[in-house]
Amino acid sequence: MRILVTGGAGFIGSHLIDRLMADDHEVICLDNFYTGRKQNVVQWLNHPRFELIRHDVTEPIRLEVDQIYHLACPASPVHYQYNPVKTIKTNVMGTLNMLGLAKRVKARFFLASTSEVYGDPEVHPQPEEYRGSVNTIGIRSCYDEGKRVAETLAFDYHRQNDVDIRVVRIFNTYGPRMLENDGRVVSNFIVQALQGVPLTVYGDGSQTRSFCYVSDLVEGFIRLMNSDYIGPMNLGNPGEYTILELAQSVQKMINPDAELKFEPLPQDDPRRRQPDITKAKAMLDWEPTVPLKEGLELTIADFKARLEAAGKLAVPTVAKSSS
Ligand SMILES: NC(=O)c1ccc[n+]([C@@H]2O[C@H](COP(=O)([O-])OP(=O)(O)OC[C@H]3O[C@@H](n4cnc5c(N)ncnc54)[C@H](O)[C@@H]3O)[C@@H](O)[C@H]2O)c1
Repeated sequence: MRILVTGGAGFIGSHLIDRLMADDHEVICLDNFYTGRKQNVVQWLNHPRFELIRHDVTEPIRLEVDQIYHLACPASPVHYQYNPVKTIKTNVMGTLNMLGLAKRVKARFFLASTSEVYGDPEVHPQPEEYRGSVNTIGIRSCYDEGKRVAETLAFDYHRQNDVDIRVVRIFNTYGPRMLENDGRVVSNFIVQALQGVPLTVYGDGSQTRSFCYVSDLVEGFIRLMNSDYIGPMNLGNPGEYTILELAQSVQKMINPDAELKFEPLPQDDPRRRQPDITKAKAMLDWEPTVPLKEGLELTIADFKARLEAAGKLAVPTVAKSSS
C-alpha cells in the first residue's frame, strides 16, 4: 500500500515508518520539522519505497495514497505552548486538510488523538466512554481542545462524507528518539541524570502516569488501522507509577547519587492518568509487552549515545546488573 504519515519525522511517526517500511509498504513522510528531525528517518532517505516531503499540514496538499496516519502536531507542552495559536491551527486546519485528502482519494484516515481529551479526569482509569474534564481556557487547551475538535472532525467526515476513519487516544509513550529538551517526564529525568544535574520532580511526585513503550504503541496502531473498528480506542500501558517512583527508577539505573529537586506543579497538571484498555484487548487482542525497566534501558542507551556524540554526557551509567 502507499501510506502517508504526517509528522513522520517525529518521535512516534518515525518508529511507525520503520515498521511500515519493514512491512514492505510505500511510505510518504510529511513533516514541517517543527519538532521532527531528518535524523529520525535518515535510514530511509535513499530507499526507493520512501519519500520525504517538507510540508505544513495547515496548507492543503494533493497526493495519491491508500492510508493516512495523521500524527502531525507537537506533543509536549513546551512545544505546543510555544505558539498555541499555531497548535490549534495544526489540529483544526491540519486535520481538516488531511480529512479532505482522505475524502478525495478514498484513503483510510487514522487520527493520533490523546488521553489529554480526558483533561484532569474524575473517572479512573479512563474508559473511551468518559467524556473528559477539560479546561477550555487554560494553557493546555490549545492542545487538549484542538485534539477534541480533531476527533469531532473525523467523526463528522465519517458520518457526512463516508470517510473511513480510525481514532486512537494515545497515553504517555516513551522510547528512543524523544527530544532531549521537550520537557516530558521520562526524557527530562534521563537527560538530567545523564548530565549529572538534579532530577526535577513537580509537586510531591505523588501524581501518577502510565508509560507505554513506543514499539507496543506502534503495534496497536497497525492493528487498529487494519481492523474494522473505527474507535475512539485507548492505547497505553495501564501500569500506573507515581512520578516519584519513575524518578527513583531512573536514578537507580543511571546514577544512584543523583539528587531529586521538588518544584511547584504546573497549571492544569492532571493528578492521575491511566488507560482502561479493555476495548483494545478485546477487539485488537492488544496489550503492552515491554516492561518499564526494559523500555527505560533502551531509551537510556539512545539518550546516552546522542549526548555522548554531542559531548554533553556527564555521568557514566551504572552497570546493568546493579540497576
Ligand atoms: N508521545 C506521546 O506520549 C503522545 C501522547 C498522546 C498523543 N500523542 C500524539 O502523537 C503524535 C506524535 O507525537 P510525538 O510524541 O511523536 O511528537 P513529536 O513532536 O515528536 O512529533 C510530531 C511531529 O509533527 C510535526 N509537525 C508538527 N506540526 C506540524 C505541522 N503543522 N505540519 C507538519 N508537521 C508538523 C513535527 O515536526 C514532528 O515531526 C502527535 O499528534 C501527538 O499529539 C503523542
